[in-house]
Amino acid sequence: MSLESLFPTRVYSARLRPSGGGSLNDELLRECRQLRFDDDAGRRWSAASYPGGYTSYSSANKMHKVSPTFAELQRRLGPHVTKFAEALDLDLRGRPLEMTDCWVNIMPRGTDHGLHLHPASTLSGTYYVRTPSGCPGLKFEDPRVDRYMAAPPRRASAARENQPWVQMPVEEGCFLLFESWLRHAVPANRKRAERISISFNYSWF
Ligand code: NI
Repeated sequence: MSLESLFPTRVYSARLRPSGGGSLNDELLRECRQLRFDDDAGRRWSAASYPGGYTSYSSANKMHKVSPTFAELQRRLGPHVTKFAEALDLDLRGRPLEMTDCWVNIMPRGTDHGLHLHPASTLSGTYYVRTPSGCPGLKFEDPRVDRYMAAPPRRASAARENQPWVQMPVEEGCFLLFESWLRHAVPANRKRAERISISFNYSWF
């Protein structure tokens, strides 16, 4: 007999290589907090659409174009994005995958982010700036869940690749990349300390 795994859903995870001084993360942390302080429009938008937390998703969402620190993050992510596109066998036809959006998310205790995907993008991901011990990871949903029809539930003990939802742990200095159609969520942060991350989209032009 043979048992094949077809149509895999791939998630790329790695640690960002520190520079000589290794201070990029410290500087990103400082700028994330400063942005929340400066960004009145973003705080207003977050109060309505990101209860308890702050995101610059609708206000300052091209941080790689305005901050040299975020531009450095983009530069260091570049080779990983290339590697991920290769692992997916994407035929880019000589056209670049470019970072189009890059924004900050700050989740104090109690803030969550419901299931969503990133429309109009090719690849998406998140870099983790601050991850208090025990804070939630990133929860991915099986993209076939809407086709389950009469499928029985999976055992609680099901192998990881057979689970309909998988929560990937997140760690300071690390990042995740995934295809933008893959639905994901961040469960509520139950820790007292803030969970701080930077999310981004890449598009194929
Ligand atoms: Ni997202």
